[in-house]
Amino acid sequence: MKIKNLKIPGKTFLAPLAGITNLPFRLLVKECGCSVVCSEMVSAKGIFYNSKNTITLLASKKEEQPLSVQLFGSEPGSMAMAAKFVQDMKTADIIDINFGCSVKKVMKQGAGVALMNEPELTKKILQAVRKATNLPLTIKLRAGLDHSGQQAFTIASIAQDEGVDAIIMHPRSAGQGFKGKANWKLIAKLKQQLSIPVIGNGDINHVEDAKKMVELTGCDAVMVGRAAMVNPFILSQIDDFFKTGSYHTPSPWEIFRKMERLTFMYVDYFGEKPACKMLRGRLSWFVKGMAGCSSLRKNLSRINSRDHALALIKEFEAGII
Ligand SMILES: Cc1cc2nc3c(=O)[nH]c(=O)nc-3n(C[C@H](O)[C@H](O)[C@H](O)COP(=O)(O)O)c2cc1C
Repeated sequence: MKIKNLKIPGKTFLAPLAGITNLPFRLLVKECGCSVVCSEMVSAKGIFYNSKNTITLLASKKEEQPLSVQLFGSEPGSMAMAAKFVQDMKTADIIDINFGCSVKKVMKQGAGVALMNEPELTKKILQAVRKATNLPLTIKLRAGLDHSGQQAFTIASIAQDEGVDAIIMHPRSAGQGFKGKANWKLIAKLKQQLSIPVIGNGDINHVEDAKKMVELTGCDAVMVGRAAMVNPFILSQIDDFFKTGSYHTPSPWEIFRKMERLTFMYVDYFGEKPACKMLRGRLSWFVKGMAGCSSLRKNLSRINSRDHALALIKEFEAGII
């Protein structure tokens, strides 16, 4: 599959996840195997005003490429400036625009899923961004403000006409948040409507779900979010499953090594104190379902140093292997 002139090595995209898909997490997923990783959503206004916290979100490393950087905003001028800024940093391979975020703070600015109700403004934003960058450009949208998918079809059609190179669809309505089920039928309908690639997203919880989504919708690739938070191997497992019909299930030993790796990378990148605060919840996701994991989760929720975290992982490992 190609997005504009960018050849995508497989069929899997790590979803943008605010607060989660920071540089160390993306590197970990990439090391496990994944075709494309996506940044957290980045405020175009924040780039425009040179906010230090926003610019930090754009940090990247060669090893994670191809990288998609997701921008959110609602003003054509600042969106175009942000896209050009990202292009000039020479770290992003794709620019994605957020048409799906239903968080109040984002919608109040007229950004995220609020844009799906604004076809004229959408057109202006896409024209401005397309003019500002020649990087492959994608948009990630929801079904719309209601369940019908009509707004998605309208916005996607405008996007294709304005030179967007691929569409990512998470087929839930704005009001649904993450409740109920993603309506994959809307992905199938969108795929029939468009000539540019469609990437399906929503409720891929197991490797086999990805195959089902492709078979049912005809989508060109899949994007996985929450399942990768629990199992960072899932994207490589999906790519393997597509290529060979089988995939490797990581042993507890492999999972513990990834937990250690994430601990080292977080501490290196964020510093020990902030890293430990973030790792308290994050490390326990990886052992979900393992016998005795609730006691590890309790202990991990109190970690205050890298060595403390590493010792708890080793102790838990010794108990179960
Ligand atoms: C914690 C969290 C943060 C998210 N942040 C973003 C974001 O920054 N940009 C975006 O487009 N979607 C965001 N999403 C939505 C996901 O990218 C994805 O569309 C959604 O989780 C459905 O896919 P899944 O079923 O594979 O998780 C977020 C979802 C979660 C759970």
